[in-house]
Amino acid sequence: MEITVLPAILEQDINELQRKVDMVKGHVSEIHLDVMDNQFVPNETINDPEVISEVDWGDIQISLHLMINNPLLYLKKWALPNVSSIFVHREAVSNLEECIKTIRELDKKVGIAINPHTSTYDIKDVLDDLDAVMVMAVEPGFSAQAFNADVLEKIAYIRELKPDMPIYVDGGVSDKSKDEIIMAGASVLCANSYIFKSDDIAEAIKDLGELTQQY
Ligand code: DX5
Ligand code: ZN
Repeated sequence: MEITVLPAILEQDINELQRKVDMVKGHVSEIHLDVMDNQFVPNETINDPEVISEVDWGDIQISLHLMINNPLLYLKKWALPNVSSIFVHREAVSNLEECIKTIRELDKKVGIAINPHTSTYDIKDVLDDLDAVMVMAVEPGFSAQAFNADVLEKIAYIRELKPDMPIYVDGGVSDKSKDEIIMAGASVLCANSYIFKSDDIAEAIKDLGELTQQY
C-alpha cells in the first residue's frame, strides 16, 4: 500500500503556523492540522476557523484533526474550502452517526480518531461509513511524546477488516517507529516533531514514507 506522510502542525500562534506552512510548501500537498480546545485535551491551539482561513495556504490542503468536545456544534464553521477531511474523536462524540452524516453533507472526507486506550470495537459499527480511521499512538494534547507500540495491534486489526481504507497514525511517528507502523498496515503517517526538528524537511518526509529494513 502506498504510504503518505503528512506534516502535523500544532500551533497557538498564527505567525508560527504560517511559518510552518511555508516550510512544507512545495514538499507536500496536504498537512495535518491539530485543533485543541483545552477541554477535550489539556492544551489549546488556534481554535478558530476564521483565523485559520487567514493563513496563506497556497495549494495546501488540510486534513483536520479536531481534538475538541462536541465537534458537531462546530463542524460547519470548520468546513473551509481547503479542508479535505475532518477527523473527530470517538471519545468526544455521543452521536457518531449524526457527526458522520454532517461531515458528509459538508462534502468532506470523514474520519474518526481513537485514543490509545479506546478499543476498535467502539468504531466497528461505523467503519463502513468512514473514509479513514486515525489511530493515536500517544495521548492527544502534545507533540514529541513517545510512540506507544501497543496500538500496532489495533492498526493490524482495522487493516484486516478494511483492506483498502486509509489508516492514519498520529503521535510519536519517527524514523524509529515508522517501520513497525507501516508493517502493521497503516498508510498515512502524521508527524510533527520528527519533520519540523529535522535539518532537511524534504528528506525527513521522504524518509518516513519508506521502510528502512527489508521484510
Ligand atoms: C497530538 C497531536 C499530534 C502531534 C504529533 O495530540 O494530535 O498530531 O502533533 O506530534 P509528534 O509527531 O511530535 O508526536
Ligand atoms: Zn494530530
